Amino acid sequence: MNGKPQRDPRVDQAAATDESLLDAHERLLGRHPDDGARYRLLPIGILFALSALVLFSGTYLNRYAGHYSASIYNENAKPSIGGAAAPKMDPLAVGEIQFKNVCITCHQAGGQGIPGTYPPLAGSEWVTGSPARAVRIVVYGLKGDVHVQGHLFNAAAMPVFGQQVTGSVYNWNDERIAAVLTYVRHAWGNNADPVSADDVTAIRKAVGDRREMTEAELEQVK
Ligand code: HEC
Repeated sequence: MNGKPQRDPRVDQAAATDESLLDAHERLLGRHPDDGARYRLLPIGILFALSALVLFSGTYLNRYAGHYSASIYNENAKPSIGGAAAPKMDPLAVGEIQFKNVCITCHQAGGQGIPGTYPPLAGSEWVTGSPARAVRIVVYGLKGDVHVQGHLFNAAAMPVFGQQVTGSVYNWNDERIAAVLTYVRHAWGNNADPVSADDVTAIRKAVGDRREMTEAELEQVK
């Protein structure tokens, strides 16, 4: 041993430790002490403190966690008045999506077209000129000879985008026609005024139901 005189808890009160007391009691109760476990009595105060903490946390969360709903206490949420008004989308952005979904297949990403087949929209006098002509081309389509920047095109027809055509999925409304035209009149260095849905409505009213325009007809329109 370490040389210190052994103090015997059976005769020396001050030498009694928790272990020696437990040991003694277990002996008295006829049980065997569990040597390996090294029991420590948890101070009762900590038990109370932990219980109080659990109670407090539970009460706090119940009161303030908003049932964990994502919409509660979102300090970044935008205030909304009257609820479900659909946000107005920028016609340029809508038009760009439409161009990239549809027109791009023929007129190409840069609006440069394909020589001899699909005329360019970039720098085209039909695109940046009179909206009355541009609207007619997209709503009713175009066939036959057309001259763009001095080049003749007549190899294919421009589809009808604003009319019900059997086998065609288009039949776009006035907003869509206006948006795509607003976009092509603004892209690739083109710089012409936006076209509004009201412009398109007025032209449809004036022209009525019909199919592809020709260059000669368009030239009658100012
Ligand atoms: C299937 C191929 C095709 C698609 C898709 C198409 N076009 Fe065309 N477009 C043509 C052809 C072909 C012509 C020339 C028609 C002719 O020769 O008479 C033309 C002509 C035009 C013209 C007049 C000529 C010019 O180059 O300025 C405009 C404006 C035009 N298209 C805009 C559009 C827009 C906007 C879209 C998308 C909404 C679109 N086109 C989608 C094939 C297409």
